Amino acid sequence: SASTELRELLLAHIRDVPDYPEPGVVFKDITPLLADPPAFGALVDALAALCARHGATKVVGLEARGFILAAPAAVRAGVGFVPIRKAGKLPGAVHGQAYQLEYGTAEIEVHTDAFAPEDRVLVIDDVLATGGTAEASLGLIRRAGATIAGLAVLLELSFLGGRERLAPVLADAPLDAL
Ligand code: PRP
Repeated sequence: SASTELRELLLAHIRDVPDYPEPGVVFKDITPLLADPPAFGALVDALAALCARHGATKVVGLEARGFILAAPAAVRAGVGFVPIRKAGKLPGAVHGQAYQLEYGTAEIEVHTDAFAPEDRVLVIDDVLATGGTAEASLGLIRRAGATIAGLAVLLELSFLGGRERLAPVLADAPLDAL
């Protein structure tokens, strides 16, 4: 994982918003980080370095905030970017996966031709909470025929147990929280 210095730089640019989007939830707002070129640049460099370390040949970003981090990391690492989108947004043939939210369900999709069989995929998102989004995403990538190289998130909300939930799904692929 990242150096203490990098972690402190990143955390200094993440704002806690109490009672958003509902009472009792503390929202992690990354917009101050995105607005700060040194901090955002250091994050993108760190994600691109993980991409190289894990031998990834593609980077997947999870809609919507995952896109903002994953796309520049893919460019920096010199590999292609693939979006996993909320249902109904991708124009081609898709694999879809529904998953449980705290209230109700969500569904995400990926293009069936997004990967080659030899692709190794690093999945990037801003926050790992319950792990439901990541779990569904890893399943979609495997159904599309690629191998998981790892999952990288800016923030891990450890108290929600995402890492434990994902352990069997990740198998031996690394989960990096910066
Ligand atoms: C947030 C976050 C992760 C996900 C984590 O996305 O960006 O993708 O929730 O939660 P989980 O681990 O419990 O699945 P959100 O659904 O708010 O979408 P957005 O990025 O489009 O706002």
